[in-house]
Amino acid sequence: MPLKNQNPTKTKAWEKLQESYQELKNIDMKTLFLNDVHRKEKYTLTFNDFNLNFSKNRINDAVLQQLLELANEVDLKDGIKKMFSGDIINATENRAVLHTALRNKSGNAVLVNGKNIMPEVEASLKKMNSFSGSVISGKLKGYSGKAFTDVVNVGIGGSDLGPRMVVDALQYYKNHLKTHFISNIDGDHISETLKELNPETTLFVIVSKTFTTQETLTNAETIKKWFLSRGLGSKETDIKHNFVAVSTNLEKVADFGIAQENIFTMWDWVGGRYSLWSAVGLSISLALGFDNFNKLLTGAYEMDEHFKTAPFQKNMPVILALISIWYNNFFNTESEVVIPFSQYLTQLVPFLQQLSMESNGKSVDRNGNTIDYQTGNIIWGNTGTNVQHAFMQLVHQGTKLIPVDFIGFSNSLYGNKEHHEKLMANFYAQAEALYLGKTKEEVHLELKVANNQDKIEQLLPFKVFQGNKPSNTLVIDKLSPKNLGSLIAIYEHKTFVQGYIWNIFSFDQFGVELGKELAKTHLQ
Ligand code: F6P
Repeated sequence: MPLKNQNPTKTKAWEKLQESYQELKNIDMKTLFLNDVHRKEKYTLTFNDFNLNFSKNRINDAVLQQLLELANEVDLKDGIKKMFSGDIINATENRAVLHTALRNKSGNAVLVNGKNIMPEVEASLKKMNSFSGSVISGKLKGYSGKAFTDVVNVGIGGSDLGPRMVVDALQYYKNHLKTHFISNIDGDHISETLKELNPETTLFVIVSKTFTTQETLTNAETIKKWFLSRGLGSKETDIKHNFVAVSTNLEKVADFGIAQENIFTMWDWVGGRYSLWSAVGLSISLALGFDNFNKLLTGAYEMDEHFKTAPFQKNMPVILALISIWYNNFFNTESEVVIPFSQYLTQLVPFLQQLSMESNGKSVDRNGNTIDYQTGNIIWGNTGTNVQHAFMQLVHQGTKLIPVDFIGFSNSLYGNKEHHEKLMANFYAQAEALYLGKTKEEVHLELKVANNQDKIEQLLPFKVFQGNKPSNTLVIDKLSPKNLGSLIAIYEHKTFVQGYIWNIFSFDQFGVELGKELAKTHLQ
């Protein structure tokens, strides 16, 4: 069954939220805290080693209730059920949406058109396990008989951002294989990457769901030429030793010259930006070992179960999505900033940009009608504390209201306490500064105490912080493959809930096609 089709702005809950917005738009969050001593605990959710504090938002119990009513009125439960059950919810492409099946650890069948897909998923995982094990152990060798030292993932969009982000985030857990990523069709970047590599000991993983993507195919052809022309004795028939592919398009992969046994399949019910859990994650499994890849899947599976079963008021992805809708559709905040306080998560924002913006950047509803309300948020950000020396000025004192997601860890991986305490002090301080701000009176007093009496009038307005700026703080114990899996799944499900409520199709991406077509005409 397709997803239900309803304009969220025509619901009773939406009407109530509009009224609440008029009341609450200027409400001071400090007053909300003063009036409710239990606010922090009430607006905190926990799940495994995750703690989400959403108390620093311009919401009260009534608004939260109305947001939950909105979710119920559009029957979000039904949407979630349909996604997990393999209904054809990607209607414009006539496909099910089952990235959750790739990490399904329940032992239960998942049906697509009446067929249980779990045996195929398990077979694919088994193949990844055995292949990555052989490469890591050195049993599987390159064309000249030497063990592999380097892996190059060649892919773009969903065939790059997920694996790249996970490998970078979990580098602490990495083995000896050096992993490289080539995505852009920028010849200079290819040359820079290849100049360090030895064709004898490099494994190329060509990842393209469609195997028609211009960037990936051009890059793969260039690499193939380089491989054959390095004067180290490699021949066309050696491609089978050093090249593998991940794709649904077996014919095109064969045309490229990759051996049948070196093809890792995926399925049309996995969207590119949701595909790191499939064989698209082969570079993850190679870089971290299959056990760690499997832990990533387990973490995502546990979040899937939470998303499926937790009541909406206790459901992390649902709460995050509803708060985001509150700002996007009522406060008209067009963007959201995500700030992980971990250098390991540098690639998280680009990953989330594709996940959220390619999914929900739509202006036509599930009925085919042009929408007259806001959909997809603009996602941006970077890692703390770098952001404090870059864009945070605008978030603190600029004219725009920009909700923030702060993501931090209670413990570091190497245990450097001094650094970690400083890092997390900044994490909490940023959320606090946004919330508290600094009043005229406080600035006045500060300047007075600093003996700056004569400058008070001149400086005072510039030193005031409006405050009352919203943020969520998500604190996780210590970065691991498992909790990274859960973290990614939170954002996947948040994206789904938003798209569902906005009544759009989140799993197609026709908006990327025109540019591709025009690029071809420029080449003629
Ligand atoms: O950017 C458009 C897009 O289709 C993405 O959705 C996808 O992740 C990317 O291109 C790569 O596609 P493919 O894996 O088919 O090469």
